[in-house]
Amino acid sequence: MKILRDIPSLLAWRAEAEAAGRGVGFVPTMGYLHAGHLSLVEEARRRVPEGEVLLSIFVNPTQFAAGEDLEIYPRDEAGDLAKAEAAGANVAFCPLDPEIMYRPGPPVWVQVEGLEQRLCGASRPTHFRGVCTVVSKLFNLVRADVNVFGQKDYQQLAIIKRMHAELFFAGEVVGMPIVREADGLAMSSRNAYLSAEERQKALALSGFLRTVEARWAAGERRVAALLADAKTVLSVGEIDYVTLSDAETLEPWADDATVDRPSVLALAVKFAGARLIDNCVLR
Ligand code: PAJ
Repeated sequence: MKILRDIPSLLAWRAEAEAAGRGVGFVPTMGYLHAGHLSLVEEARRRVPEGEVLLSIFVNPTQFAAGEDLEIYPRDEAGDLAKAEAAGANVAFCPLDPEIMYRPGPPVWVQVEGLEQRLCGASRPTHFRGVCTVVSKLFNLVRADVNVFGQKDYQQLAIIKRMHAELFFAGEVVGMPIVREADGLAMSSRNAYLSAEERQKALALSGFLRTVEARWAAGERRVAALLADAKTVLSVGEIDYVTLSDAETLEPWADDATVDRPSVLALAVKFAGARLIDNCVLR
């Protein structure tokens, strides 16, 4: 596994891949990899079997607000690199100092208005600006043929797809299904923050999504009936939001609406240890 620590070595690697005519797959992460991240690496490898698969590990400070978990975000670089290599990555970009990605001087931001204010953006108003900015920088540097993201962060994926198209970035953006623990909990680096009791309570999130999927499969299309008992079932923690939205625009359905388009049910619940998100798409 080749490890790149700064921009000049990343650009040199990219130029070499270009000169050799090798395709590039890219998986951006903040590290502490689990099977969800590795499914993205495997997909990147499937799509560029003979090419380069680059994993980035960068705990991006601008997507954390003051008081969030930037300082304690879990890290295990050596473990991550071994797992990513086994899953098919052959090169990793791991800048150690945030100043490598954010140079001194007036800040430059990339934003996708509207989409970034909803759902997670309501309680984390600067989060997606940080995500879009760092992902833009990475897209410009890596110029991959395929950029692989997870549907676990459904809103992030929707925002990045829009940004990618509108800023004419290279290659394509691919979204991969949510990878779950055997009992249904969506895998997340932040699950490491949960106490045993919270870990158990957190099953209510995926449990509720399965209930709503069953209602949908049975033909229910009324928002109020689909989401009936959401507040009770999810009050295992502090509910940040539970919202049914148009799957494309993320425009929320009104409580008295009847759904007639593919939609996404997204939720966020805060525990003392961690804020967890999950979602399912209803088609
Ligand atoms: P991170 O939370 O490390 O996630 C990296 C990628 O893994 C994202 O595309 C995310 O959607 C995907 N992922 C996480 N858990 C998953 C799961 N259970 N199943 C499938 N995919 C999963 O998302 C970020 O980092 C950052 O915001 C980043 C895009 C790297 C920008 O800093």
